[in-house]
Order: sequence, then structure tokens, then C-alpha cells
Amino acid sequence: MAYQWDSSLETGYELIDNQHKQLIIALNNLLDACRNGKGSEEVKKTMDFLTGYTVKHFSDEEKLQKQYKYPDYFIHKQYHDDFKVTVGKLTEKVIQDGPTEEVIGLVSTSIGGWLLNHIKGDDFRMAVYIKAQRGES
Ligand SMILES: [Fe+2]
Repeated sequence: MAYQWDSSLETGYELIDNQHKQLIIALNNLLDACRNGKGSEEVKKTMDFLTGYTVKHFSDEEKLQKQYKYPDYFIHKQYHDDFKVTVGKLTEKVIQDGPTEEVIGLVSTSIGGWLLNHIKGDDFRMAVYIKAQRGES
């Protein structure tokens, strides 16, 4: 089943929420490419897009955190950096093995599962803090 964005993932920041929506679309495109027996080239293309978009999104989030002197900036950045390493390793695996069942499982858990948890946990905490700094809560 495809991943879906719903209001339980809404942080209240349009830029961040829109990027999260795009990330979920990119993740579904990657899973589709894997499942529909597209060749490794096509799968790698969708993986590269997801990687690039993730890097941009994390950078925007980190800028926002710096701007508001978010106290958990360093640990949050560490989560982002660790995730980038995970995605990099998965890309290597796709190149080596192709879109195997194992790869599809890893994409679902290590990318999909991580992303939803991260949004609902770490990103929500960040949004609460920034809203308070802005006097919005
Ligand atoms: Fe984040």
C-alpha cells in the first residue's frame, strides 16, 4: 500500500508540510518503480530524486531551527545525517542487487517508517518550539 499524507502529519508550517507531502510522493514513486519491475536504472533515478529532495528538505528544516535557536538542533541534525547515510547505503544496494524484495522491504521500513516516525516525533517537537518562539501557541 502506498504511503499517504494526512492531517496527523501536519506540523502547521506550510513549507515543511508541503515538503513532507513531496517526500511521500517521491517515496511512493520509488516503491512503484521497485514493484513494477522497472529496471535498476529507473529505480535508481527515483532513488536519486528522493535523496536530492531529502537533502534539500533537511537543509531547509535545519535553517529554520538555527534561525529560532532550537535547543535540539544538533541531535535533530544527527538524525538527518544518519538518515542520509541509510539512504546512501540503500542506493548502493539497489545498484548492486536491483529492486529485490529485500530492498523493497528496506525502503518501506528504513525510509517510509523512519520518515513518518520522524515527522510525528522530532518534527512535531520542533514545530511546537518554533510556534512558541513566534508567540503562535
Ligand atoms: Fe526533521
